[in-house]
Amino acid sequence: MINNADLLLTNIGQLLTMDDGLNRAKRGEEMNKLPLIENGAIAITDGEISFIGSSDEAKSILAKEVINCDGKLVTPGLVDPHTHLVFGGSREHEISLKQQGVSYLDILKQGGGILSTVRETRNASEQSLIDKGLFHLDRLFSYGITTLEAKSGYGLDKETELKQLKVIKELHKQHDMDLVPTFLGAHAIPEEYKQNPDAFLLEMLNLLPLIKEQQLAEFVDIFCETGVFTVEQSKQFLLKAKDAGFQVKIHADEIDPLGGTEMAVEVDAISAEHLVGASDYGIEKLAASNTIAVLLPGTTFYLGKEQFARARDMIDQGGAVTISTDFNPGSSPTENIQFIMNLAMLKLKMTPEEIWNAVTTNAAYAINRGNKAGKLIVGRQADIVLWDATNYHYVPYHYGVNHVQRVFKNGKMVY
Ligand code: NIG
Ligand code: FE
Repeated sequence: MINNADLLLTNIGQLLTMDDGLNRAKRGEEMNKLPLIENGAIAITDGEISFIGSSDEAKSILAKEVINCDGKLVTPGLVDPHTHLVFGGSREHEISLKQQGVSYLDILKQGGGILSTVRETRNASEQSLIDKGLFHLDRLFSYGITTLEAKSGYGLDKETELKQLKVIKELHKQHDMDLVPTFLGAHAIPEEYKQNPDAFLLEMLNLLPLIKEQQLAEFVDIFCETGVFTVEQSKQFLLKAKDAGFQVKIHADEIDPLGGTEMAVEVDAISAEHLVGASDYGIEKLAASNTIAVLLPGTTFYLGKEQFARARDMIDQGGAVTISTDFNPGSSPTENIQFIMNLAMLKLKMTPEEIWNAVTTNAAYAINRGNKAGKLIVGRQADIVLWDATNYHYVPYHYGVNHVQRVFKNGKMVY
């Protein structure tokens, strides 16, 4: 019997444990199964989960504080596997260009878009980036996210890329959120290397030993797209990143269908992101591989596109899929993962069960945190969300508002 719990949540209508006994991301039909306990209870001791079971069994537990959940939904803290959290400024000044029909890639070609954020980030002090990051992290907490990946990529030079990665490390220390850092130095071609992208990629590759030594990033990512980096450049870059000891990710087939999806599989990327224009062949390869598809429907929505990533084909063919905000100042300025869940239901045609698996366990595996986050298991860190909803179907259904009632991170109430 537990007689020293710090907190006991009882009378939980649906307790989604996500505890599937798997040591990997769920794929294909597995994604449609959702391990849950009805009328459940969960206890927290010293920041960890010390009990999970029924409310009846929990009656004997002595806890300092008890919260009666009134039949509401409780889930693991959500995991966001793809954000561009640290950046200077914002891009609302590009609204009129967008409304005149100038495309995302044309704005970039004119020196705006990502390059506009690069100028702001180069000019920003480390402290101002930390303050801004803390603000966004609080907001991400409020929507139920307790672990997230954060990319660099708005420096495109040694000094600023390292500054961004150091800010991510500092945010991990200063904020209760768990941050997982990715080096995205190859996010665009900076003005000064316009004529020589290969020399730029080499400069970014040369940073890898230092990034490794100072443990500033776990993953290396690249933006493979028309006008940015080709499939071949991306492939060589990622292979060299692997040689330097990093796991790799890739922004692939976001706008133009170039074949980045199959290349991601070839280099055994831990995840491939966007995949809106993935070919039939790319989807087939992906579904048969260990590479997790990170789909970003908020970006498709915000870029005003009709065609969304083919999540149904990916899952129906046996692939592993997750979703994410892609929080960034250009193509997806939102921290609201719940809206992304609504879009996954409406536009990706994912079932509520698939969506919950996507935002918890599969997202965790996409950033190498599958053994830490995304499931409620005794002995794990107590990252828990109490929702103002009685069942898990309700969150993807009722759109545009925040359904979170409470968020616990390592057992501490943070929202
Ligand atoms: O995932 N496409 C490249 N990177 C981001 C957008 C970055 C930006 O526009 O600032 C994305 O969509
Ligand atoms: Fe992105």
